Amino acid sequence: MFRSFNKWYFGALAFLLFTGSFDAQAQGEGLFKSKCATCHQPHKDGTGPKLFQVREKWESGGAKEGSLVKWVHNWQAAAATDPYAEQVSKMYPSAMSAFPELSEEEINSIFDYVDAQPDPATVVAGPTGGDTGMTEVQEEGGFSWIWILMGAVFLIVIVAVGGVRRQLKSVLNEKEGLPTKEDATYAEELRSWAWTNKIYVGIGSLVVILALLVAGYRELGNIGVVEAYQPSQPIDFPHSVHAGVNGIDCRYCHNSATKSKSAGIPTVNVCMNCHKQVSGRTPEQETKIKAIYEAAGWDGTMYSGDTKPIKWNKVHVLPDHVYFNHSQHVTVAGIDCKQCHGDMTKQKETARVVPVSELNKVEGNIKLTRATLTMGWCIECHAETGISDGPLDGKKDGYYDEIHKRLMDNDKKLYNKYLEDGKVTVKELGGWECAKCHY
Ligand code: HEC
Ligand code: HEC
Ligand code: HEC
Ligand code: HEC
Ligand code: HEC
Ligand code: HEC
Repeated sequence: MFRSFNKWYFGALAFLLFTGSFDAQAQGEGLFKSKCATCHQPHKDGTGPKLFQVREKWESGGAKEGSLVKWVHNWQAAAATDPYAEQVSKMYPSAMSAFPELSEEEINSIFDYVDAQPDPATVVAGPTGGDTGMTEVQEEGGFSWIWILMGAVFLIVIVAVGGVRRQLKSVLNEKEGLPTKEDATYAEELRSWAWTNKIYVGIGSLVVILALLVAGYRELGNIGVVEAYQPSQPIDFPHSVHAGVNGIDCRYCHNSATKSKSAGIPTVNVCMNCHKQVSGRTPEQETKIKAIYEAAGWDGTMYSGDTKPIKWNKVHVLPDHVYFNHSQHVTVAGIDCKQCHGDMTKQKETARVVPVSELNKVEGNIKLTRATLTMGWCIECHAETGISDGPLDGKKDGYYDEIHKRLMDNDKKLYNKYLEDGKVTVKELGGWECAKCHY
């Protein structure tokens, strides 16, 4: 009995370690999204071919061993040494980039991730099919459920097999005339087994508890964080056409950003300033712009008075207990909209929350690490940014120099620690005080 408990016990531990490969999946996902997703999708051809089960494809196509990894490192080198790879390299007009920095393990984690993606054509049918934000959430949610399900099945199997064993054993004992030990319940056997193996059990439990704590902590950190959130909108309003091609200033439509707490969304009247004349050149544009006319009650020559405001869905949403003020950041601190919203002049689709990894790529932005719109994001920036980096100092009229001098003259010891790095950060000014941001 003890031996078999041992087997189950170490089996369960192995299973837990196995679920640790879940992390490798997350690694694959990160790598795929940051390095490959611009050209490849799991199930659809794009700039590059779809990657679903590409390892199997290469193997059955007769590629040399290790050739696929070589391909990702440097496709030209692979094409030079493997006829199959050479054939693949002629498939598409455009060429792939080289990724010499990826290890074999990382490359396989990418393919593992890709192969674990369900085909959206079969998974999400029906009205939500076109909504990319939703399908993504569903795919990811579905994936972790598989693990929970597998764990449950595993437990049931342990208990069931254990029960059968007990019965067999008592039948066997009965046959040989031994005492059947009917009174030793399952729990008692488990307890006495745990007692004799207390060191292993102790270490095992510690590992499990730690793992659960770490997982729980990570999950908590992600509650409510939806980076790249992009709700659907009543009209497909492209910022690229307005703020980009036509060079309309952000403030023309979000004119309260410099003066007040919120940036504001333009009313339909603002749209009509131009769209009374601009009705679109293509049928596609015309149908989109017709929705503006309907909202404004405009029939092409006059207003009917029958208006229906456009119900834009809010993209950036902070919880009610947080206070954020645009003018404090845009006007006082002189921070560009790009720092927090990315380059909207290139946004062809409707607006979205831009993940911090993309914000970091925008030229001139302060690089941050925490997810956009989380508390970590706000306070990280407050710890890094000097208030005197703002336009008040940009005037170079000595405003801040004067204050620094006065502070130093006044009480050197007290203020020196703030000024020794040459700048006063928002944090040092109180930008980490809870009440500054929380009602
Ligand atoms: C700049 C675009 C681009 C990027 C980025 C890119 N690829 Fe490719 N990839 C291609 C193209 C194009 C092809 C088709 C082969 C050709 O014509 O060179 C291809 C082919 C492949 C193939 C062979 C597909 C087949 O059907 O046999 C694999 C595997 C592959 N890429 C993996 C990756 C991985 C992994 C990454 C990320 C680390 C990546 N690619 C990033 C453009 C890209
Ligand atoms: C012609 C008017 C117009 C101009 C110019 C314009 N926007 Fe917008 N903006 C809108 C409309 C309409 C929406 C709501 C639709 C949407 O969310 O896609 C919006 C939404 C947004 C949102 C998301 C709002 C939310 O709900 O959280 C941000 C951020 C934004 N704009 C930033 C900018 C920036 C930065 C610029 C300048 C580069 C700019 N906009 C220029 C009209 C405009
Ligand atoms: C320091 C970061 C930061 C900067 C800089 C910034 N925003 Fe925002 N923006 C936010 C946050 C955070 C929200 C969400 C506010 C909320 O939900 O209360 C937001 C929301 C918005 C919205 C949605 C409507 C609203 O007021 O809630 C628009 C539109 C917008 N910003 C446009 C702009 C424009 C235009 C600029 C540049 C003039 C700009 N933002 C600069 C962080 C920033
Ligand atoms: C300052 C002038 C101006 C304002 C204000 C303006 N637009 Fe436009 N809009 C344009 C121009 C110019 C085009 C490009 C038409 C073209 O390509 O011929 C356009 C195109 C469009 C298109 C079609 C884009 C496409 O190619 O798919 C939509 C939809 C649209 N606008 C919606 C809006 C909405 C909604 C508002 C109000 C929030 C608005 N516009 C405010 C000037 C403006
Ligand atoms: C890109 C950097 C950056 C980000 C991101 C940022 N802030 Fe700020 N914030 C600043 C700067 C710089 C100032 C100082 C402006 C000044 O000189 O008063 C400031 C000032 C403030 C103040 C006033 C502090 C005081 O001492 O009076 C509040 C409140 C605030 N921010 C809230 C937020 C919240 C809430 C968020 C996140 C949703 C946020 N900020 C995100 C840079 C940032
Ligand atoms: C610079 C602005 C800022 C400061 C300073 C700040 N917070 Fe926050 N806090 C936020 C924002 C923004 C959120 C919302 C984050 C989200 O929705 O994910 C938040 C969320 C929270 C939450 C909800 C849990 C969560 O992560 O969503 C708690 C609790 C909290 N803050 C406590 C505090 C305490 C305690 C302090 C002082 C030590 C503090 N905050 C200082 C901006 C701030």
